[in-house]
Amino acid sequence: MALLEISDLAVDYGRIRALSGVSLSVREGEIATVLGANGAGKSTLLRAVIGTARAAQGGIRFAGSEITRTPPHARLAQGIVLVPEGRRILISLTIEENLRLGAHLRRDGAAIQREIEMIYERFPNLAGRRTMAASCLSGGEQQMLAIGRALMAKPRLMMLDEPSLGLSPLFVERLFDLLGELNRDGLTILLVEQNTGKALAAADSATVLELGRVLMAGDPRKLAADPALQAAYLGTAKPAPSPVTTP
Ligand SMILES: Nc1ncnc2c1ncn2[C@@H]1O[C@H](COP(=O)(O)OP(=O)(O)OP(=O)(O)O)[C@@H](O)[C@H]1O
Ligand SMILES: [Mg+2]
Repeated sequence: MALLEISDLAVDYGRIRALSGVSLSVREGEIATVLGANGAGKSTLLRAVIGTARAAQGGIRFAGSEITRTPPHARLAQGIVLVPEGRRILISLTIEENLRLGAHLRRDGAAIQREIEMIYERFPNLAGRRTMAASCLSGGEQQMLAIGRALMAKPRLMMLDEPSLGLSPLFVERLFDLLGELNRDGLTILLVEQNTGKALAAADSATVLELGRVLMAGDPRKLAADPALQAAYLGTAKPAPSPVTTP
């Protein structure tokens, strides 16, 4: 069953059409990945799903219900959670305060405390420093905290925007191991990545965006073997393309 279904989506920033005619679906229980060069519209797509970018056209369905006009907080309450680009943890708050922020819509205090403990079990690096300011964490640990905070919202769909960006190779490995574990535990994941090779290896389905449109989509193994994709995305990063303007 499709947990997330995006059909013919368009998103504008003023006169700039950032996404156009984008359709993709994420099945319950899978890891889906969205790839594309700088400016392709990947982050815009995630913003449209959490509701901070408005659909100018097309629709978004989640767990069988139309959510295209649902406000962001109600989508979060339905379990749609984004780990944003650049992590955005609050470095002056403690590690535990950051985790609690992820649960701000929830009122079940005892369950929240139990889950915080489960997150510390999963991330022992965080456990020992729970009362310390998050600024003491390395970039990789901050990414783990951002994921831990997202888990506190009880996601049904966790979306991550370029989570491996700027991480050391060791943390990139840990990150992908973690995503695999969370997925095996039943979490559906939509992953936007620059690390095309790793993302295609981890994913069950893949979509490549170019200039706000779907360039190709399908089996990640087939995409990984596609010469056009290899030339465009598996090599060095391309310069940002110029945006498409609406007529
Ligand atoms: N707030 C905004 N106002 C105007 N234009 C925007 C805004 N955010 C993004 N854009 C434009 O929309 C297009 C898609 O941007 P988006 O950030 O979604 O791309 P991306 O694929 O996430 O790129 P990157 O890999 O650099 O993160 C780009 O042309 C970008 O310049
Ligand atoms: Mg982006």
